[in-house]
Amino acid sequence: EAEKAELESRIRAALKAEDAVLVAHYYTDPDIQRLAEETGGCVADSLEMARFGNQHKASTVVVAGVRFMGETAKILNPEKRVLMPTLEATCSLDIGCPADEFADFCDQHPDRTVVVYANTSAAVKARADWVVTSSCAQAIVETLDARGEKILWAPDKHLGHYVQKTTGADVLLWDGSCIVHEEFKFRGLEDLKALYPDAAVLVHPESPDAVVEMADVVGSTSQLIHAVQTLPNEQFIVATDNGIFYKMQQMAPNKTLIEAPTAGNGATCRSCAHCPWMAMNGLENLLSVIENGDQEVHVDPELRKKALKPLQRMLDFTA
Ligand code: 13P
Ligand code: SF4
Repeated sequence: EAEKAELESRIRAALKAEDAVLVAHYYTDPDIQRLAEETGGCVADSLEMARFGNQHKASTVVVAGVRFMGETAKILNPEKRVLMPTLEATCSLDIGCPADEFADFCDQHPDRTVVVYANTSAAVKARADWVVTSSCAQAIVETLDARGEKILWAPDKHLGHYVQKTTGADVLLWDGSCIVHEEFKFRGLEDLKALYPDAAVLVHPESPDAVVEMADVVGSTSQLIHAVQTLPNEQFIVATDNGIFYKMQQMAPNKTLIEAPTAGNGATCRSCAHCPWMAMNGLENLLSVIENGDQEVHVDPELRKKALKPLQRMLDFTA
């Protein structure tokens, strides 16, 4: 504990000395989330992280999350230094959508508007017409559909399917998924719901279709936290990375939060629903990166220019 307090105070001092602000995702370690808030940074979903980094005046943005979040910050703020506790923190959606294969897929369907999830590399974004996150995907695709546009969607097939179903748009899906949300099981969730019939079921749309079907609320991490604060239910079954429980509990201390099952038998498992890449962000590497300035995010300037357009469209659409 004393060691932790020492690390935290060194991180505070280093942030100040470097004119740096800490932006963290809800799936990161609670210690990091707390520090981000206490030092004037933010804890947020991926859309809000992008917006915050873009608006803050600090010359260095430290992004605690996964690689695409750091790249997004750099694409939006080329003049700022963007650091991450580790550049190794990737995402199965990013890995599952290599830029060259994706470009071939786009070339085969030139009549379609290319919409990509934020969980992609800068190179994939550079090929897109629109970038979306889970909090705005539906609204953006709805608008494109109303204009008569056909969509090419990548990489998350579950979110893509959800968007297709809710908007009725013509959506061609890339076959990618999140290794964390993919593990939520309908069968176990059904059993759990029988045990807690009054619980509201909150689901992130990266989850499989059958799980999404059972949801009372489907949304981004911020939207799910909002639901816990605003719905009258006393109990909530939550199907997303369990890093989110820290903020949910803080915002609604009197509510009971139950992890959605990942094993298919109703059993929950603390380590299952936790992203291994988000878990790579710790106090030690956070301090080290702020003090040493290594693990800096760089994006090729040509790619950056191309990736900025669809990202800026998303920010303008959601402004
Ligand atoms: P949110 O945009 O809902 O925060 O989710 C992004 C994500 O998958 C982070 O892992
Ligand atoms: Fe990617 Fe899933 Fe991890 Fe989010 S939780 S970073 S979507 S692997």
